[in-house]
Amino acid sequence: MSASPIVNNKLTVHKLSYYNYTSPLEFREVELKGYSETSFLGPTQILIKTKASSLNPVDVILYQLTPTWLKKDVLKGFGSDYAGEVLQTGSEVKDYKEGDRVYGDLLKPFGPNGAFSDYLVLDVTKEDKIGKIPDNLSYQEAAALPIAFGTAYELITKNHNVKGANVIVFGAGTSVGTYGVEIAKYLGAKTVLATCSPKSAAKAKEYGADVIVDYTKGAEHEYKEITEFVKKNGKFDLIFDSCRDPVFMGRLKDVLKTRKEGGKYVQVFGSTTMDYRTVTVASNLPTKGIMRELVASRLPFSKYEFISASISDGGDFIKAVADLSASNKLKIPIDSVFKPKDYKKALDKFYSGSFKGKLVFDFE
Ligand SMILES: NC(=O)c1ccc[n+]([C@@H]2O[C@H](COP(=O)([O-])OP(=O)(O)OC[C@H]3O[C@@H](n4cnc5c(N)ncnc54)[C@H](OP(=O)(O)O)[C@@H]3O)[C@@H](O)[C@H]2O)c1
Repeated sequence: MSASPIVNNKLTVHKLSYYNYTSPLEFREVELKGYSETSFLGPTQILIKTKASSLNPVDVILYQLTPTWLKKDVLKGFGSDYAGEVLQTGSEVKDYKEGDRVYGDLLKPFGPNGAFSDYLVLDVTKEDKIGKIPDNLSYQEAAALPIAFGTAYELITKNHNVKGANVIVFGAGTSVGTYGVEIAKYLGAKTVLATCSPKSAAKAKEYGADVIVDYTKGAEHEYKEITEFVKKNGKFDLIFDSCRDPVFMGRLKDVLKTRKEGGKYVQVFGSTTMDYRTVTVASNLPTKGIMRELVASRLPFSKYEFISASISDGGDFIKAVADLSASNKLKIPIDSVFKPKDYKKALDKFYSGSFKGKLVFDFE
């Protein structure tokens, strides 16, 4: 077990941080003071030695969109997904003890905590996405899970009973989509049709996709391949879209079962066409085609259910991760691992889009 880093009731942490989009994103030394004169931790807090974290689009989006006036004196922590070892627990913490390996997502926009920090202090009563790492997973693997796996798991399970269903995963080359394929098969989907580039096709198959459609050949090719499938196998029960694929906007009837038949189109809020170097509020907004589907879906007597959503309350993925890893079925797409000091290289890789899976940081 690691030694306590607390000295004189204070802890010095090194965290990747910023004030707003104009301030540099860099590791800063920050001194955390004790909760009270006699105890560094509050009764429901835990201290974690970070062992790994992973990068998500939302981390970059938040940094780029933080205006100069928003909580201007608060140093904002960068990053959300973490994995680490519990070093100390507050007097009322029952579920965690020293030495536990934990992981989670601490996404709290514009707050001081961030996963790219050598130590984390968390209040377990306020963290709903925290769990123990299954024994057969490494810290790096665990850190690659929370937001991407959690989003796919929450949005798929909240909206559909996948057992026996025919499912499309648009964007199986994204981390969320890769996990979407894996989760749909784990939950008993009959067939998963996945769209991705040829570079991601082998991975999508490895994660369980039955049919691959190459989206890089163009929208009409994608439309034709999928509607050919529909002619032979019937319409889809669930469409899980991690990349805002425009191909069926305005023509859901060609591919999706109606609301009465139980069909659902679930789109992850986000955009794979965004240039992450120059994020604007506008680049996050839904396209006209998506807006039309969202409005149509809310009209009385609408035939098709179309949902655009984000990860919200879900720590439910923790149990799915435990089940999948207990049966040795959990696969985790990691593209590469960086040392924290090389965060600029990792960001450059992220901006270039030349990666297939999660970009993970090794804090050990
Ligand atoms: N709202 C939420 O709660 C939430 C949470 C997590 C993620 N997200 C959003 O979900 C999206 C995916 O996130 P991620 O971290 O999984 O992404 P990612 O891993 O960064 O995805 C990169 C991959 O996307 C694929 N791609 C790019 N353009 C595409 C297109 N037009 N059609 C299909 N695939 C395309 C590429 O794979 P190939 O070209 O090789 O197939 C590329 O390797 C992002 O927009 C993100 O902001 C939202």
